[in-house]
Amino acid sequence: MLWVKALHIVFMVTWFAGLFYLPRLFVYHAQSTDPTSIERFKVMERKLYYGIMAPGALLTIAFGLWLWLGWGFAGGWLHAKIALVAVLVGYHLWCGRLLADFRADRNTHRHVWFRWFNEFPVLLLFAIVILVVVKPF
Ligand code: HEM
Repeated sequence: MLWVKALHIVFMVTWFAGLFYLPRLFVYHAQSTDPTSIERFKVMERKLYYGIMAPGALLTIAFGLWLWLGWGFAGGWLHAKIALVAVLVGYHLWCGRLLADFRADRNTHRHVWFRWFNEFPVLLLFAIVILVVVKPF
């Protein structure tokens, strides 16, 4: 089980690296006016989303399900955790929508909006890690 948990945590870190960095790229992309920078941000965002975030998300969830179903974990903490993971997946997919808007040069949000958007995964990380480590209920 410890190997599965180790891989679960490694891919969780990979996923969060993207969840923290992609919205930050959106902040700078939304502020950019020169075509060279805009094209460079499009490439960076696409590679981050499909090359790091998507595999990180899929493998975090796969190993999490393996832990849950393989070793029969149970409890309110796990249900609350899975509910927050569902919110996290929603945020991930929203990033994908925003990525498509930027790729088509039809983004309407200003950089300040993305600065607030960027903070949301921090709250989820705190809540999910406290739930799974402390198991308060
Ligand atoms: C559907 C998705 C997920 C499921 C089913 C799941 C399930 C689990 C289970 C059953 C454990 C073992 C708990 C224990 O050993 O006490 C675990 C460990 C852990 N999970 Fe998840 N998890 C999921 C997603 C996530 C996400 C998104 C995060 C990121 C914040 C995360 C962070 C952790 C951490 C840090 C541990 C190690 C806890 C410890 O060793 O005390 N998990 N997960």
